[in-house]
Amino acid sequence: MPVQNDTLLPPRVYLDVLGSTAIVATHSAALACSPWVGRHDADAADGAATDAMRRALAHVPGCGTVVIGEGEKDDAPMLFNGEVVGDGEAGPDFDVAVDPLEGTSFCAMGLPGAMSTIALGAPGVFWSPGPGFYMDKIVVPPAARGAVDLDDPPERTLQKVGEALGKPVRELRVVIMDKPRHQGPDGLIAQVLAAGARVHTPPGGDVAGALEVLLPTSDTDLLLGVGGTPEGVMTAAAVRALGGGMLGRLAPKTAEEAQAIRDAGMSLERVHDRDDLVSGEAVFAASGVSGGALLAAPRRVDGTTHTESLLVAEGSVQFIRHITADRVPTG
Ligand code: FBP
Repeated sequence: MPVQNDTLLPPRVYLDVLGSTAIVATHSAALACSPWVGRHDADAADGAATDAMRRALAHVPGCGTVVIGEGEKDDAPMLFNGEVVGDGEAGPDFDVAVDPLEGTSFCAMGLPGAMSTIALGAPGVFWSPGPGFYMDKIVVPPAARGAVDLDDPPERTLQKVGEALGKPVRELRVVIMDKPRHQGPDGLIAQVLAAGARVHTPPGGDVAGALEVLLPTSDTDLLLGVGGTPEGVMTAAAVRALGGGMLGRLAPKTAEEAQAIRDAGMSLERVHDRDDLVSGEAVFAASGVSGGALLAAPRRVDGTTHTESLLVAEGSVQFIRHITADRVPTG
């Protein structure tokens, strides 16, 4: 049977199908790479997650196209742009933005924070960063949406977010990845500290940082700083679904990356808001790989395997625990 046009499905049903697909994908990838936690082999972990996600996505209903794969910037195993997924039978058309193992080094080093991530939406909803690997990002909760400007100095951003959230700046909690680009006496971290806010500096993982801003399970108020573009687009899917605010602008790390962006006819100045990054309804899912405050790592209990995932769609977040029993031989 030919692939169905997704517009034939009511929007609610369409998003439900995408949500199930997203969870199947991240759950499979998280289970497959969890044996690699703490084995100091990032490529093997990434490869296991990617292969498992590819196998899981081969059997989901419909026809998906990977528009944002991950791995190009560091030559890691990846689902590549243009790759077609889905069983090609009856079911919706959809686009895929994916990082089968977000926080690869956390997984390899056995540190908390690694998870499998994916965003799915209708064809054409995801902005393409082209050859841009890095972008400057601000993520804020719904109440501060519209209050931020990427050209404001950090002190002004904090004042505006504090006013929008009804908090003094000294009570704001900001996540900034602890990367060299944010360090130093004049760096972003120092500027935010000087303005009086608290700064949480994980070594990586800005998707998890953004989720902290959006979810009521944490008291984080905003995410600032430069991170990956695939992570930025996936984050925007969650931000949009939960009504938060996000701004992003390409921020190349090298002259070659900047030149490739210009050669592709893209702007280094343009600020993209949440609805530019994801221009229609989309779902976001993540499954825990190495544990952490957000999602536990897969674990074995008495012949069962427990995993934790979350699904963000249509203004809600669901935390999902799968408990899978080992197959008992019959006969
Ligand atoms: P990986 O999946 O590539 O390990 O990404 C982890 C991460 O920390 C992201 O959360 C972040 O957006 C990106 O890396 C930043 O890239 P870099 O580590 O090169 O600065």
